[in-house]
Amino acid sequence: MSALLHVQDLKVSYGGIQALKGISLEVRAGELVALIGSNGAGKTTTLKTLAGLLRPTEGSIHYQGDDLARVPAHQRVRDGLALVPEGRGVFARLTVAENLHMGAYTRSDTADIAADLERMYATFPRLAERRQQLAGTLSGGEQQLVAMARALMSRPKLLMLDEPSMGLAPLMVAKIFETVREIAAQGVSILLVEQNAKLALQVAQRGYVLESGKITLADAAATLLGSDGVRRAYLGG
Ligand SMILES: Nc1ncnc2c1ncn2[C@@H]1O[C@H](COP(=O)(O)OP(=O)(O)O)[C@@H](O)[C@H]1O
Ligand SMILES: [Mg+2]
Repeated sequence: MSALLHVQDLKVSYGGIQALKGISLEVRAGELVALIGSNGAGKTTTLKTLAGLLRPTEGSIHYQGDDLARVPAHQRVRDGLALVPEGRGVFARLTVAENLHMGAYTRSDTADIAADLERMYATFPRLAERRQQLAGTLSGGEQQLVAMARALMSRPKLLMLDEPSMGLAPLMVAKIFETVREIAAQGVSILLVEQNAKLALQVAQRGYVLESGKITLADAAATLLGSDGVRRAYLGG
């Protein structure tokens, strides 16, 4: 099994309410995989569980061949599994530079961290100009870039993005998707959660459709884009 991430029959509940009803999915090394679904389908629950922030009641998560059941969240980050959470979660009262530094908190290779910071500023010139600005004063799109750059500072092998385009103006949405493409081109595997199914399936190689805690479709992204069911439910006709 060559999958970087392999999820089998995962079930997650909030109190008595089952949000994930046994989902299975995988991300292979170098892949960009989209997980789409409407509001409340269980997308965020899936990513939080993969990051180790929620504990499944059943099922398994294998990452690089290892069972993650007993691996705490911070160790998963150290192992290269990074989450950019829904709503970005930047530290509003810290500068852009301080936010990026926080992303390297699991690392101790000081010289490499400094080099990575400079790489981030080269990749994200918008952030370079604003490195001393408080993150809370940035636009939503710029905060999303901070959140993505911060996650990249942990040197992830698998980057999980939870609705990076949410609430952004069209131009900024395009910029975010372009950045996602660039990150993927650098060899980072990506699990992309989006309500914007069309854009997500346009950048992804494969996709999964999540409905009410169950995977209802799994296919090549191009196939999903062309399917009547997906078009009706997620692409507006
Ligand atoms: N903290 C929580 N407590 C109770 N129920 C929750 C909580 N978070 C999410 N849920 C429920 O779990 C289901 C899946 O939510 P979520 O994973 O946030 O969906 P999505 O990200 O696809 O919009 C929804 O029915 C939601 O109401
Ligand atoms: Mg969500």
